[in-house]
Amino acid sequence: MSQVDDHAQDHDGDRRDFLYYATASAGAVGVGAAVWPLINQMNPSADVLALASIRVDVSGISAGTQITVLWQGKPVFIRRRTPEDVEAARSVEISDLQDPIARNENIDGEVDATDENRALDEGGEWLVQMGVCTHLGCVPLGDAGDFGGWFCPCHGSHYDTSGRIRRGPAPQNLAIPPASFVDDATIQLG
Ligand code: FES
Repeated sequence: MSQVDDHAQDHDGDRRDFLYYATASAGAVGVGAAVWPLINQMNPSADVLALASIRVDVSGISAGTQITVLWQGKPVFIRRRTPEDVEAARSVEISDLQDPIARNENIDGEVDATDENRALDEGGEWLVQMGVCTHLGCVPLGDAGDFGGWFCPCHGSHYDTSGRIRRGPAPQNLAIPPASFVDDATIQLG
């Protein structure tokens, strides 16, 4: 899912402004799927880059679903995983991974790509990661692929329920941005 979801709490105004700016400057384009390629082409404007952190209301996300929000001009997936998702992710051996590094900006240094080192909370219910394929930057689809996680249709990269690359040309696991819980219902990015 590459569309910016409506759940980004604090920046509806900014987002509207940005979409208006983007469409106005490029002539007639649709919203939704067209927005991300457009952002890529024109580079994020200074006001978008200036959003060093945003807060997202996650109270409306039910288990087994995700939302996509825009942060620093890029899509971020916020997924509330089911116990089955977590179990699948945690039963994988590191030796089976194409990229054994967690790629988690919240952890210093290079640590193993265990699901525990990628999930936002200890129990693993929440997974927050960049919605940008590490091959050439397409936006992967959720609930897709051979490993029950994400699938990038551009060149066929399959990510598992922890966002780790398992098959295909992508060289790295989906990156995990700086993220934290502000309270039970709010996640801060950046
Ligand atoms: S950009 Fe995702 S597989 Fe190539």
